Amino acid sequence: MTKNHPNYQADTTHATGDRQDYLPAAGRNGLLPFYDAFTRLFGVPAIHRTLLRHAGLAPGDTVLEIGCGTGNLTILAKDTQPAAEILGTDPDPLALARAQRKAKDRTGIRFERGYAQNLPVPDASIDRMLSAFMLHHLPTDVKAAAAAEALRVLRPGGQLYVVDIGGRMTDADGMAARRMLNNGHVAENLGDGIPRLFRAAGFDCQEVDSRVHRLIGRVTYYRATRPA
Ligand SMILES: C[S@@+](CC[C@H](N)C(=O)[O-])C[C@H]1O[C@@H](n2cnc3c(N)ncnc32)[C@H](O)[C@@H]1O
Repeated sequence: MTKNHPNYQADTTHATGDRQDYLPAAGRNGLLPFYDAFTRLFGVPAIHRTLLRHAGLAPGDTVLEIGCGTGNLTILAKDTQPAAEILGTDPDPLALARAQRKAKDRTGIRFERGYAQNLPVPDASIDRMLSAFMLHHLPTDVKAAAAAEALRVLRPGGQLYVVDIGGRMTDADGMAARRMLNNGHVAENLGDGIPRLFRAAGFDCQEVDSRVHRLIGRVTYYRATRPA
């Protein structure tokens, strides 16, 4: 990531002492303890439930969330389909530590450090992938690499379900949308930006749902299928 990219944080290091080369969940490490409360205020749990309804996880599925942050969607996926094997990945060890603490009484769920563009899983080993509010954290070149990596790890016919800010958001969606339309992190999610990203990587990709959101403008859900 270059110094000019809006995601670049020059001065932050995380718990391992590495240079922090990703945009963390709440924008900066110091705000992480407030992330879950903040996302509840924004109605994110209901958005996670909608994403999982679309994903329709089946018993025996191997499920991977990329950019799992503090683990809320990964844990909800496990509780929704207890007979699935669930892995949450994120580059942020601080967020992963929180996720691990929350999931400690469950089996068949684990968290591992990993970037969406470099996942710690074998080729064609995943039935369903999930991504919630992660894409707008990635710079352009990393998005393309993450889409290619998703294609690598999904089995043929496997599906990635994505939700993020954006889609066909317009001024008519309200004040929050008008603000978001000028947000650099969200720009590439607008219009058909997300389906174009996944189609360019070799997926079949469709929008499956889109709703106005009074605080973040519009959230849109997508299904990207690795051709069989
Ligand atoms: C807004 S949070 C979303 C967390 C979670 N999916 C949720 O819905 O609550 C975005 C997450 O993307 C992660 N992230 C940033 N860059 C990433 C990358 N290159 N690969 C995977 N995840 C990344 C951040 O660490 C952060 O946890």
